[in-house]
Amino acid sequence: MLSKKTSTEKMKPGDKGHTSTYSSRFFSQPIPKYEIPEGSMPANAAYQLIHDELNMDANPALNLASFVTTWMEPEATQLMQENVHKNFIDHDEYPQTEVIHHRCVNMMARLFNIPEECKAIGSATIGSSEAIMLCLLGHKWNWKKHRQKDKNAVPNIVFGAEVHVCWEKFARYFDVEMRIIPLEKGLYTITAEKVAERIDENTICVGAILGTTYTGQADPIEEINELLIKIKKEKGWDIPLHIDAASGGFVVPFTEPDYKWDFRLEQVKSINVSGHKYGLVYPGIGWMLWKEESEFPEELIFKVNYLGGWMPTFTLNFSCNSANVIAQYYNFLRLGKAGYRSIMENCLKNAQYLAELFEGSGKFEMINKSQKLPIIAMRLKEGITQYTVFDLSSKLRERGWVMSAYTMPENAQDVAVMRVVVKENFSHDMADILYNDTMAACAALEKQAAPPPPVTDGERHHPIC
Ligand SMILES: Cc1ncc(COP(=O)(O)O)c(C=O)c1O
Repeated sequence: MLSKKTSTEKMKPGDKGHTSTYSSRFFSQPIPKYEIPEGSMPANAAYQLIHDELNMDANPALNLASFVTTWMEPEATQLMQENVHKNFIDHDEYPQTEVIHHRCVNMMARLFNIPEECKAIGSATIGSSEAIMLCLLGHKWNWKKHRQKDKNAVPNIVFGAEVHVCWEKFARYFDVEMRIIPLEKGLYTITAEKVAERIDENTICVGAILGTTYTGQADPIEEINELLIKIKKEKGWDIPLHIDAASGGFVVPFTEPDYKWDFRLEQVKSINVSGHKYGLVYPGIGWMLWKEESEFPEELIFKVNYLGGWMPTFTLNFSCNSANVIAQYYNFLRLGKAGYRSIMENCLKNAQYLAELFEGSGKFEMINKSQKLPIIAMRLKEGITQYTVFDLSSKLRERGWVMSAYTMPENAQDVAVMRVVVKENFSHDMADILYNDTMAACAALEKQAAPPPPVTDGERHHPIC
């Protein structure tokens, strides 16, 4: 028996409210892009228009340029969806979220070997940049309160040219003199000797990196710590060491637990790590950890009451959703140390495999032989002049791969590098495909650069029609 017609079926084409399949009625009109439209449109049409436009973006699974997580388990994604509408900062309304946040801070402080007698504090941030700025601000305040002797003294900070831009942002935004250690060709980390040449009584902090953005290498953290202890004994300058573990903080503790870079070292007073890199959470979440609560300047802690109850806050940012903190906790519970270790070891193995393939091709030279992180940084071998890593990177975009190509910082700026960040979702098979695509791209670029074959007498080239 036929069912009764619904009112929409009685509509004629062109009636108000008529929607064709794929919302195509809205596809024949331009969409206002720079002013909010006067009228509305159906949800499915708005969704489809935006969804389709975003197809122009790269495929995150093929994005090897970014350290940031591009895949999470469906259960984690579900938890994130369930918590995306909770404002993380509203601890009064969402107290359990704050309890979970507190557990994460504890877990990370222990992962970074906080001595049991220390009372660490920490917080989720929007990323490592915010975490770094917050920690460095803390060190600036401590210098001002406890170490500044001359009121006209200018505070300074010492770090290498291989730092992420957020370090320079801190110095500029918060008025601190930068003492940047330049790199050298072939040496892309700093040394304790070069730190020693730049520190003085007005140094608020020295920065060292566990996994640089350029090559994934680690600065000699233990040696810098020893230098700072020696300076403290000899000159009385108690200069803290901040470790930027944005990328390495969730790799090295699992793959090389005996490698000392963290709170085990006396002068390491603060650490940042990106939850959204090898913490395996979607962007944006970072973490700041401070060794001793009593040494965190109280001037940076504000107490607000406008969300109900008095609540301390010491982040630069205020509101953000709770989903990322919950997702970080999910990963800790779900994976445990064994799970993280196994994922990081797989990533390292695949990175090593890919590095061997590239080196074996005779076209590339690795510039980061000691791989603490699953990152490949390579340059074209001397003698390859027909194309650059920049040409290669754009050629590979034709296959969908996103690979970053860049020049090294000052002093080594004529070294052009191509970098692959191997993440959890990059398999051994993908490494083979990437390698074959790279070889094909090199061949195409060589052909393009070669002079055209000579035209012999009586022969004409016709375009293909
Ligand atoms: C070493 C290092 N520090 C800091 C950052 C900034 O991190 P975020 O993007 O989480 O702010 C990055 C980003 O790649 C990094 O590699």
